[in-house]
Amino acid sequence: MKHFLDINTLSKEKIFSLVSRAHHFKADPHYPVFNTHAMASLFYENSTRTRMSFELAASHLSLKAFSLSGNISSEAKGETVLDTVKTLRAMGMNLFVIRHREEGLPAYIAHSLDEEAHVINAGDGTSAHPTQAMLDFMTILEKKPRVDALKIAILGDVRHSRVANSLIALFERVGISELRLVTPPHLGPKEALFGKVTHSLEEGLKDVDVVICLRVQFERFAENEHFDRAIYRRDYALTEKTLSYARPDAIVMHPGPCNRELEIDSAIVDGPRSCILEQVRNGVFMRMAIIESLLKRS
Ligand code: NCD
Repeated sequence: MKHFLDINTLSKEKIFSLVSRAHHFKADPHYPVFNTHAMASLFYENSTRTRMSFELAASHLSLKAFSLSGNISSEAKGETVLDTVKTLRAMGMNLFVIRHREEGLPAYIAHSLDEEAHVINAGDGTSAHPTQAMLDFMTILEKKPRVDALKIAILGDVRHSRVANSLIALFERVGISELRLVTPPHLGPKEALFGKVTHSLEEGLKDVDVVICLRVQFERFAENEHFDRAIYRRDYALTEKTLSYARPDAIVMHPGPCNRELEIDSAIVDGPRSCILEQVRNGVFMRMAIIESLLKRS
Protein backbone atom coordinates (compact mmCIF):
# COMPACT_ATOMS: atom_id res chain seq x y z
CA MET A 1 0.00 0.00 0.00
CA LYS A 2 1.51 3.31 -1.09
CA HIS A 3 -1.28 5.71 -0.14
CA PHE A 4 -4.41 5.45 1.98
CA LEU A 5 -7.05 7.37 0.06
CA ASP A 6 -10.28 5.42 -0.15
CA ILE A 7 -11.85 2.23 1.20
CA ASN A 8 -12.59 1.13 -2.37
CA THR A 9 -8.88 0.53 -2.98
CA LEU A 10 -8.65 -2.00 -0.10
CA SER A 11 -9.33 -5.71 -0.32
CA LYS A 12 -11.37 -7.46 2.38
CA GLU A 13 -8.16 -9.21 3.51
CA LYS A 14 -6.31 -5.89 3.81
CA ILE A 15 -9.14 -4.42 5.92
CA PHE A 16 -9.00 -7.37 8.34
CA SER A 17 -5.23 -7.40 8.49
CA LEU A 18 -5.12 -3.68 9.38
CA VAL A 19 -7.76 -4.23 12.09
CA SER A 20 -5.81 -7.13 13.49
CA ARG A 21 -2.59 -5.11 13.53
CA ALA A 22 -4.42 -2.26 15.32
CA HIS A 23 -5.66 -4.73 17.93
CA HIS A 24 -2.13 -5.97 18.36
CA PHE A 25 -0.91 -2.41 19.03
CA LYS A 26 -3.76 -1.93 21.50
CA ALA A 27 -2.79 -5.06 23.41
CA ASP A 28 0.99 -4.73 23.36
CA PRO A 29 2.72 -1.36 23.67
CA HIS A 30 6.00 -2.50 22.10
CA TYR A 31 5.87 -0.49 18.94
CA PRO A 32 8.11 -0.57 15.87
CA VAL A 33 10.42 2.40 15.32
CA PHE A 34 10.20 4.56 12.19
CA ASN A 35 12.48 7.38 13.30
CA THR A 36 13.90 8.10 9.86
CA HIS A 37 10.45 9.19 8.63
CA ALA A 38 8.69 12.52 9.03
CA MET A 39 4.95 13.13 8.91
CA ALA A 40 3.23 16.41 8.11
CA SER A 41 -0.42 16.77 8.99
CA LEU A 42 -2.14 19.40 6.91
CA PHE A 43 -5.62 20.20 8.11
CA TYR A 44 -7.49 22.82 6.11
CA GLU A 45 -10.72 22.03 7.99
CA ASN A 46 -11.38 21.80 11.72
CA SER A 47 -10.43 18.66 13.57
CA THR A 48 -9.80 17.51 17.11
CA ARG A 49 -9.87 13.71 17.11
CA THR A 50 -8.48 12.88 13.68
CA ARG A 51 -5.58 15.26 13.85
CA MET A 52 -4.53 14.58 17.43
CA SER A 53 -4.81 10.84 17.01
CA PHE A 54 -2.62 10.91 13.89
CA GLU A 55 -0.06 12.92 15.83
CA LEU A 56 -0.15 10.55 18.79
CA ALA A 57 0.01 7.52 16.46
CA ALA A 58 3.08 9.01 14.75
CA SER A 59 4.72 9.66 18.08
CA HIS A 60 4.09 6.07 19.26
CA LEU A 61 5.89 4.91 16.10
CA SER A 62 8.79 7.33 16.74
CA LEU A 63 8.13 9.39 13.60
CA LYS A 64 8.95 13.06 13.58
CA ALA A 65 5.58 14.80 13.30
CA PHE A 66 4.75 18.35 12.22
CA SER A 67 1.46 20.07 11.57
CA LEU A 68 0.05 22.95 9.62
CA SER A 69 -3.45 24.40 9.81
CA GLY A 70 -5.22 26.08 6.91
CA ASN A 71 -5.28 29.56 8.36
CA ILE A 72 -1.57 29.74 9.22
CA SER A 73 -0.11 28.00 6.19
CA SER A 74 0.93 29.75 3.00
CA GLU A 75 -2.38 28.76 1.39
CA ALA A 76 -3.59 31.98 3.00
CA LYS A 77 -0.99 33.78 0.82
CA GLY A 78 -2.18 32.06 -2.34
CA GLU A 79 0.11 29.05 -2.41
CA THR A 80 -1.60 25.89 -3.64
CA VAL A 81 -1.78 22.87 -1.35
CA LEU A 82 0.35 20.95 -3.87
CA ASP A 83 3.09 23.60 -3.68
CA THR A 84 2.95 23.44 0.11
CA VAL A 85 3.28 19.66 0.09
CA LYS A 86 6.12 19.76 -2.45
CA THR A 87 7.88 22.31 -0.24
CA LEU A 88 7.59 20.02 2.80
CA ARG A 89 8.65 17.08 0.64
CA ALA A 90 11.79 19.01 -0.36
CA MET A 91 12.63 19.32 3.34
CA GLY A 92 12.55 15.54 3.58
CA MET A 93 9.08 14.84 4.94
CA ASN A 94 7.57 11.72 3.42
CA LEU A 95 4.12 11.13 4.94
CA PHE A 96 1.32 13.63 4.41
CA VAL A 97 -1.99 13.46 6.24
CA ILE A 98 -4.40 15.78 4.44
CA ARG A 99 -7.88 17.06 5.27
CA HIS A 100 -9.42 19.52 2.83
CA ARG A 101 -12.87 20.71 1.80
CA GLU A 102 -12.15 19.87 -1.87
CA GLU A 103 -13.15 16.36 -2.94
CA GLY A 104 -10.31 14.37 -4.45
CA LEU A 105 -7.54 16.72 -3.32
CA PRO A 106 -5.58 14.11 -1.30
CA ALA A 107 -5.67 11.77 -4.32
CA TYR A 108 -4.52 14.54 -6.66
CA ILE A 109 -1.60 15.37 -4.33
CA ALA A 110 -0.74 11.67 -3.99
CA HIS A 111 -0.49 11.23 -7.74
CA SER A 112 1.65 14.35 -8.12
CA LEU A 113 4.40 13.20 -5.72
CA ASP A 114 7.41 10.95 -6.17
CA GLU A 115 7.54 7.23 -5.38
CA GLU A 116 8.81 7.58 -1.81
CA ALA A 117 6.03 9.90 -0.58
CA HIS A 118 2.81 8.67 1.04
CA VAL A 119 -0.54 10.41 1.42
CA ILE A 120 -3.36 9.62 3.84
CA ASN A 121 -6.83 11.06 3.25
CA ALA A 122 -8.05 12.47 6.57
CA GLY A 123 -11.34 13.65 5.03
CA ASP A 124 -11.97 15.30 1.64
CA GLY A 125 -15.15 17.36 1.34
CA THR A 126 -18.22 15.15 1.53
CA SER A 127 -16.44 12.35 -0.29
CA ALA A 128 -14.47 10.00 1.98
CA HIS A 129 -12.96 9.59 5.44
CA PRO A 130 -11.44 6.11 5.24
CA THR A 131 -9.45 6.07 8.50
CA GLN A 132 -12.63 6.89 10.44
CA ALA A 133 -14.46 3.97 8.79
CA MET A 134 -11.56 1.66 9.68
CA LEU A 135 -11.52 2.63 13.35
CA ASP A 136 -15.30 2.31 13.47
CA PHE A 137 -15.07 -1.20 12.07
CA MET A 138 -12.34 -2.09 14.58
CA THR A 139 -14.65 -0.90 17.39
CA ILE A 140 -17.61 -2.87 16.03
CA LEU A 141 -15.56 -6.08 15.78
CA GLU A 142 -14.54 -5.82 19.43
CA LYS A 143 -18.18 -5.91 20.49
CA LYS A 144 -19.81 -7.84 17.64
CA PRO A 145 -17.33 -10.20 16.01
CA ARG A 146 -19.78 -12.07 13.73
CA VAL A 147 -19.56 -9.89 10.65
CA ASP A 148 -21.90 -11.88 8.42
CA ALA A 149 -24.67 -11.63 11.04
CA LEU A 150 -24.31 -7.88 11.62
CA LYS A 151 -27.26 -5.55 11.17
CA ILE A 152 -26.17 -1.92 11.20
CA ALA A 153 -28.07 1.37 10.96
CA ILE A 154 -26.43 4.64 9.96
CA LEU A 155 -28.70 7.40 11.25
CA GLY A 156 -28.98 11.06 10.33
CA ASP A 157 -27.31 13.42 7.88
CA VAL A 158 -26.01 10.87 5.39
CA ARG A 159 -26.06 13.40 2.54
CA HIS A 160 -23.20 15.53 3.85
CA SER A 161 -21.24 12.73 5.48
CA ARG A 162 -17.91 11.51 4.15
CA VAL A 163 -17.86 9.12 7.12
CA ALA A 164 -21.07 7.49 5.86
CA ASN A 165 -19.63 7.10 2.35
CA SER A 166 -16.56 5.31 3.66
CA LEU A 167 -18.60 3.15 6.03
CA ILE A 168 -21.00 2.12 3.26
CA ALA A 169 -18.03 1.06 1.08
CA LEU A 170 -16.45 -0.83 3.98
CA PHE A 171 -19.62 -2.66 5.06
CA GLU A 172 -20.23 -3.77 1.51
CA ARG A 173 -16.63 -4.98 1.14
CA VAL A 174 -16.59 -7.02 4.38
CA GLY A 175 -20.07 -8.44 3.77
CA ILE A 176 -22.26 -7.50 6.73
CA SER A 177 -25.75 -8.98 6.80
CA GLU A 178 -27.76 -5.77 6.50
CA LEU A 179 -27.21 -2.01 6.30
CA ARG A 180 -29.96 0.56 6.78
CA LEU A 181 -29.56 4.26 6.06
CA VAL A 182 -32.08 6.05 8.27
CA THR A 183 -32.43 9.64 7.15
CA PRO A 184 -34.91 12.44 6.56
CA PRO A 185 -35.76 12.64 2.84
CA HIS A 186 -33.68 15.80 2.29
CA LEU A 187 -30.59 14.34 4.03
CA GLY A 188 -30.52 10.99 2.23
CA PRO A 189 -27.57 9.70 0.20
CA LYS A 190 -26.93 11.15 -3.26
CA GLU A 191 -26.73 7.55 -4.47
CA ALA A 192 -27.15 4.44 -2.36
CA LEU A 193 -24.57 1.94 -3.55
CA PHE A 194 -25.24 -0.43 -0.67
CA GLY A 195 -27.83 -0.40 2.10
CA LYS A 196 -31.53 0.22 2.24
CA VAL A 197 -32.71 3.80 2.69
CA THR A 198 -35.61 4.35 5.07
CA HIS A 199 -37.19 7.51 6.42
CA SER A 200 -38.75 5.74 9.38
CA LEU A 201 -36.61 5.68 12.50
CA GLU A 202 -38.60 2.85 14.05
CA GLU A 203 -38.32 0.67 10.94
CA GLY A 204 -34.65 1.56 10.46
CA LEU A 205 -33.51 0.75 13.99
CA LYS A 206 -35.63 -2.36 14.45
CA ASP A 207 -33.42 -5.24 15.62
CA VAL A 208 -30.09 -3.69 14.63
CA ASP A 209 -26.88 -4.58 16.51
CA VAL A 210 -25.15 -1.25 15.89
CA VAL A 211 -26.50 2.30 15.57
CA ILE A 212 -24.05 4.78 14.05
CA CYS A 213 -25.41 8.27 14.62
CA LEU A 214 -24.08 11.08 12.41
CA ARG A 215 -23.64 14.76 13.19
CA VAL A 216 -25.96 17.19 11.43
CA GLN A 217 -23.25 18.91 9.40
CA PHE A 218 -24.60 22.45 9.24
CA GLU A 219 -21.39 23.87 7.77
CA ARG A 220 -21.96 21.79 4.64
CA PHE A 221 -25.55 22.88 4.10
CA ALA A 222 -26.33 25.07 1.09
CA GLU A 223 -27.09 28.68 2.06
CA ASN A 224 -30.84 28.38 1.50
CA GLU A 225 -31.14 24.83 2.87
CA HIS A 226 -33.97 24.66 5.36
CA PHE A 227 -33.58 22.74 8.60
CA ASP A 228 -36.16 22.50 11.36
CA ARG A 229 -34.50 21.40 14.63
CA ALA A 230 -37.78 20.55 16.34
CA ILE A 231 -38.94 18.32 13.52
CA TYR A 232 -35.53 16.67 13.26
CA ARG A 233 -35.57 15.91 16.98
CA ARG A 234 -39.09 14.61 16.85
CA ASP A 235 -38.44 12.24 13.95
CA TYR A 236 -34.73 11.32 14.00
CA ALA A 237 -33.09 11.94 17.40
CA LEU A 238 -31.45 9.04 19.17
CA THR A 239 -33.04 9.02 22.64
CA GLU A 240 -33.68 6.36 25.28
CA LYS A 241 -37.03 5.77 23.63
CA THR A 242 -35.86 5.50 20.02
CA LEU A 243 -32.84 3.39 20.95
CA SER A 244 -35.27 0.85 22.37
CA TYR A 245 -36.26 -0.04 18.78
CA ALA A 246 -32.80 -1.59 18.34
CA ARG A 247 -31.69 -4.90 19.89
CA PRO A 248 -31.36 -4.73 23.69
CA ASP A 249 -27.60 -5.31 23.36
CA ALA A 250 -27.13 -2.85 20.49
CA ILE A 251 -24.16 -0.52 20.71
CA VAL A 252 -24.15 3.18 19.83
CA MET A 253 -21.44 4.96 17.89
CA HIS A 254 -20.86 8.52 16.66
CA PRO A 255 -17.78 9.81 14.80
CA GLY A 256 -17.90 13.02 16.84
CA PRO A 257 -18.18 15.82 17.45
CA CYS A 258 -21.77 15.30 18.68
CA ASN A 259 -24.51 17.90 18.66
CA ARG A 260 -25.83 16.86 22.05
CA GLU A 261 -29.60 17.15 22.43
CA LEU A 262 -29.99 17.47 18.66
CA GLU A 263 -29.15 14.21 16.86
CA ILE A 264 -28.35 12.35 20.08
CA ASP A 265 -29.25 12.79 23.75
CA SER A 266 -26.55 13.20 26.39
CA ALA A 267 -28.05 10.22 28.23
CA ILE A 268 -27.06 8.07 25.22
CA VAL A 269 -23.67 9.70 24.55
CA ASP A 270 -22.63 9.13 28.17
CA GLY A 271 -24.67 5.97 28.69
CA PRO A 272 -23.60 2.33 29.02
CA ARG A 273 -24.20 1.41 25.37
CA SER A 274 -22.09 4.22 23.98
CA CYS A 275 -18.77 3.24 22.34
CA ILE A 276 -17.95 6.81 21.35
CA LEU A 277 -14.84 7.19 23.50
CA GLU A 278 -13.72 3.67 22.56
CA GLN A 279 -13.87 4.77 18.91
CA VAL A 280 -11.59 7.67 19.79
CA ARG A 281 -9.19 5.38 21.66
CA ASN A 282 -9.13 2.85 18.82
CA GLY A 283 -8.44 5.65 16.35
CA VAL A 284 -4.87 5.94 17.61
CA PHE A 285 -4.13 2.22 17.13
CA MET A 286 -5.85 2.04 13.76
CA ARG A 287 -3.86 5.03 12.50
CA MET A 288 -0.67 3.38 13.76
CA ALA A 289 -1.54 0.28 11.73
CA ILE A 290 -2.19 2.37 8.63
CA ILE A 291 1.00 4.43 8.98
CA GLU A 292 3.05 1.28 9.53
CA SER A 293 1.55 -0.40 6.49
CA LEU A 294 2.57 2.57 4.30
CA LEU A 295 6.07 2.99 5.69
CA LYS A 296 6.97 -0.69 5.75
CA ARG A 297 7.20 -0.65 1.97
CA SER A 298 9.63 2.32 1.77
C1 NCD B 1 -16.06 13.64 11.04
C2 NCD B 1 -15.50 14.46 9.90
O1 NCD B 1 -14.79 15.44 10.11
O2 NCD B 1 -15.79 14.09 8.80
N1 NCD B 1 -15.44 13.81 12.26
C3 NCD B 1 -14.31 13.11 12.55
O3 NCD B 1 -13.39 13.03 11.77
N2 NCD B 1 -14.28 12.46 13.73
C4 NCD B 1 -17.51 13.71 11.14
C5 NCD B 1 -18.12 15.05 11.35
O4 NCD B 1 -17.49 16.08 11.23
O5 NCD B 1 -19.33 15.06 11.62
